[in-house]
This record gives sequence, C-alpha cells and structure tokens, in this order.
Amino acid sequence: MNKYEQHEYDVMVVGAGGAGLRAAIEASAHGAKTALVCKSLLGKAHTVMAEGGVAAALASADARDSWQVHFRDTMRGGNFLNQWRMAQLHAQEAPDRVRELQEWGAVFDRTKDGGILQRNFGGHTYPRLAHVGDRTGLEMIRTLQDKGIHQGIDVFMECTIRSLLKDGDRVAGGFGYWRETGRFVLFNAKAVVLATGGIGRCWEISSNSWEYTADGHAMAMWAGADLVDMEFIQFHPTGMVWPPSVRGTLITEGVRGEGGVLKNKDGERFMFRNIPEMFRGDYAETEEEADRWVASVIANERPDARRPPELLKRDVVARAIRREVIAGRGSPHGGVFLDIASKRTPEEIVRKLPGMYHQFKELADVDITKDPMEVGPTCHYMMGGVRVNPETQESTVPGLFAAGEVSGGMHGANRLGGNSLSDLLVFGKRAGEFAAKHAKGMDSFPSINQGEVESFAREALGPFDPAEGENPYTIHEDLRTMMQRRVGIVRSEDDLRFALEELGRLRERAGRVKSGGNIQYNPGWHLALDLWNMIDISEAVTRAALTRTESRGGHTREDFPETDKEWGKRNLVIRKPGDEIIVAEEPLAPMPEDLQALVNKAD
Ligand code: FUM
Repeated sequence: MNKYEQHEYDVMVVGAGGAGLRAAIEASAHGAKTALVCKSLLGKAHTVMAEGGVAAALASADARDSWQVHFRDTMRGGNFLNQWRMAQLHAQEAPDRVRELQEWGAVFDRTKDGGILQRNFGGHTYPRLAHVGDRTGLEMIRTLQDKGIHQGIDVFMECTIRSLLKDGDRVAGGFGYWRETGRFVLFNAKAVVLATGGIGRCWEISSNSWEYTADGHAMAMWAGADLVDMEFIQFHPTGMVWPPSVRGTLITEGVRGEGGVLKNKDGERFMFRNIPEMFRGDYAETEEEADRWVASVIANERPDARRPPELLKRDVVARAIRREVIAGRGSPHGGVFLDIASKRTPEEIVRKLPGMYHQFKELADVDITKDPMEVGPTCHYMMGGVRVNPETQESTVPGLFAAGEVSGGMHGANRLGGNSLSDLLVFGKRAGEFAAKHAKGMDSFPSINQGEVESFAREALGPFDPAEGENPYTIHEDLRTMMQRRVGIVRSEDDLRFALEELGRLRERAGRVKSGGNIQYNPGWHLALDLWNMIDISEAVTRAALTRTESRGGHTREDFPETDKEWGKRNLVIRKPGDEIIVAEEPLAPMPEDLQALVNKAD
C-alpha cells in the first residue's frame, strides 16, 4: 500500500504566500491538524510584490472613509462584474484583519498621532493603503510566517503538488513530488485549501517569478471545479523596461500614490488625455490642479483638488501607456517615463520608497531622486480563478477551498491595487476556518484511489520516456511569447483564434517533451510538468476572451472596443468535463437593494 511517502492531515493548504499562511493559521486555530505545502521556500511568494500597501477602510488618514465607500470603489474598479457578496465581506472585514496583523507584530508606518498611515492608490476614493514603506507584502509575510510557525503548522517546503486526489465527488488530498529528490509524496486530507497564486508565467513580460505556473487553477479545473472570469488579466502599468534582464519587475503604484507623474518622450503628462467618460469629474484635468492635490498629500492635509489622472485604475493607465508607445511617443526602450524626482525631495523619496530607490540603483543604475524611471505594463495579477462560495470559499468540489489570487469573483474585471493583500487576509481566514469545520464534520479520512495515484505517477514520469524530444524551456518560451502577442493587453478575434491553434500545437509539442537527466533536482522536469498547467489555463483564458465580445477592465478587444451593458450581466464560467475546455455564460448573482443603491450613487 505505502509505496510512496504518505501523510494524513485534516487540512492541507497548498501554497504559502499570504493567503496560504492566513488559511493555515486559521485552520490550526480551529483545532485542525494542518499541513502547509509550498513548492518554493517559505516566504518566497508573490505577496511581496504587493509593495505599496494593503487596502482597508481604517479611516485613519481620512475620516470620511468607510466600508461602504471601499465596497463601491471595488465594484466600480471591477466594472461591476465582481461577486458582490465577496466585495462586501472584503470591505467590511479588511480593517479587522489589518488590525489583527498589527497585533501579531506587523509594523506599519504611522500617522503623526500614532495611527496606521494610509496612502493613495488608483481607484480608491480616500487614502486607504496601510503600508510599510514600499515593502508591505514582505512585512505581511514575515508577520504571518512568525505567527504560523509558532502555532505548530507543519510546513513542507520545496514540495510541488501536481494533482488533487478524489474520493468520488469529494477531494481526498494531493499527489506531488519533492523538488530536491524527485520522490513522490501523497497527502490524504479531509479538506484542501488552494492558495497557489496566479498564472503570470504564461506571459513574456511579467512581475511573477518562476512559481506562478497556474498550478492551482489547473488542478482545480482538472478536479472538476468551476473557474470564473478567466478572461480578465491585470497588466500593472509600471514594470521596469530596461535593462532586458529585469524587464517586467514591478514598480509600485505607491510611486504615483506619493505624487509620481507619467510623461511621454515630449514631456507631456498624457494621462490628462486619457480620462474615461465614467471617471470624468473625479480626476484633475489640469497640471495645476493635480499639483495642488500632491501638495496637500505632502502636507498631510485633506486635498481641496481632484486626484491626478495617474491614479486612474490600472487597466486604464496600462492601455494609455501602450497607446503612447505605439504612437511613437515612448521612451528609448519602449516604455514611458515615471518621474518622482521633480515632485518630492530626495530624502522623502528614499524614506517613502526605499525599495524602489535601491531597485533602480542596483538593477538599472538610475538614481530616481534625480532621474525619471522608464516604465511599461507588466502582467501582474489574475482576476479569474476558482469559483467559490463567498461565505466559505468552498469550490464546487466538496472539501476543496480556494483563497487569494487562485480564487475568482472578488475583483470582477479589474482589481484595485492593495485589494489583493486585504483579499488574501479576509478570504484566507475564511477558507481556513471553513476548511477546518468541514474536516471536523468528517468521521474518517476520505479513501485514496491507488489506481488514480499510479496513473498520476506514470504521467509525471512521462518526460523521461522519449528517446528524443523537445526541450521544455523552448516550449515555455514559445508559449510566453505567443500569449504576450496574441492574448495581451489588447486582443482581437483573429489573434485569439490564432492563439487557440497555437495552443493546440504547443500541447502536441508538450506531449513529446524530454526533460533529460534523472528525477533528482531537475528543474527541466518540473517545468515539463508545469507546461500542462500553463497550456490548459492559457486555453481557458483564450476561450473566455474570445467569447466576451466587449471591452471591460482587464479585457480589451480592439474589434469590440465598447463596454456592453448586456455583457455586464454575465460572468463566464470555465469547466473541463472531459478532454475539452468549455465556456458557459451565467447571470451575475442579484445584488440586494441597499448595496445596489451604493453602487448607483456613484454611477
Ligand atoms: O503597485 C503595487 O504596490 C502593487 C500592489 C498590488 O498589486 O496590490
């Protein structure tokens, strides 16, 4: 029976970024024997890429803030496709989750009177991002790690979960391998929480590091769970563009929150030309007004001017930058300029944005206290993911939960900056709590189907079989280049159809992949296996993007440039019941009148 190393846990959490850590802490606090399994080192997570802050209506920087305004901003930011109940719970519970983090030791920057300092970010009406300089995600991970370790969670590092095990309809655990030895390992679990993050490694220019290969999205879909909103990908407007080795590395939105401005090669602040109709009235229309806003922020006073258009939603800013570059008004290396040096003193820049200062000094030899940065859009975040019950985070597969970036619904068509950190705290906690409750309700462990395990093991060893075959790195590079060109910020029917054909060819090539070497630490083999996740999930994104014949948030169709009211009533749900990935249109859940009134007030 025990051919492979085997473990039994009430709750297995897959992924140890903020969502996974928060879920594991909560499951363990509810008395569940909890395993936290992560493919990388503990603490090495995309959570640290949310640099500028965690969004929560604490109202410490502006007393007018409230959960209602945060809810409205989030729905507006998501172009009203958000799962309203998730957006409501998120706005209501985020302040408590941030205060709790502070009790656990997170050291946030302070206001003069000792409150938590909050900064401005795109799409948030008031300064709402509690922050630690420009290293907020890192501080959150550090705090959660300390808390989790002291709580007695068992951590399995450098262990990749490949497939979910099922007992009938319900989840029974996970099957994977140790990255170092290549040996297989089985987890038999009463409940599984997926917290694997995003899918950014499917694109060429990305802020995501090597871990983000769509593992959780693919495992959930293969296990029969619904995915939702897969057409919506967030391209963060400001990634590094030069030198090539660091292209895509994130530059926090905090730079613009602290007064940084975007300019084209002619020195024009082009965002003034790019304020969408829906947001006119909310943003400054002259440099003089925008500068007055910055002056009030610096003086810690309530602004008597409208905010600068650099703080529009990310999808709007990313598209505007792309247009400048295409029109030949870009910077020498294909981006635009982000200038903080002319707005803030060198001391302020180094104090408020220490990470950015060092990043540019060390990686690009640019002193941002003197010179502008060159920036361009970078694939940053996946709005779509596993469809979950908003209260419990349980997916459509019993016993399978999801939290953080791998889950869908909360952000609709576009996520506001800072809402990912609060999302992972609010829903990580909920997922952990309800997974533990689910496990407690079970008398015995679900059974493991040995036939299923053997077939996963055979499949995983496939890349060692062929005498000749293609290098996994070549296939991955081709996938990333193709997704960047055909399923990028702006899409068209022709490009998407081409992408589907190309994904078919890439799938065939992945079927003949050869990893070489043996099972001991062999990143080529690991990538060969990850190709299956990435190709299937790229197809899910492409099919959804082809189906949605309108433009909305992180999905822009050049052949359907308008936002269509009818499409605003439906989400797209992705399933893979057999060999085919299929897309279904489903109506949005009806919103209660009181919340509808909040949204209507804005629009
Ligand atoms: O720009 C940033 O600091 C990123 C934040 C986020 O993605 O939430």
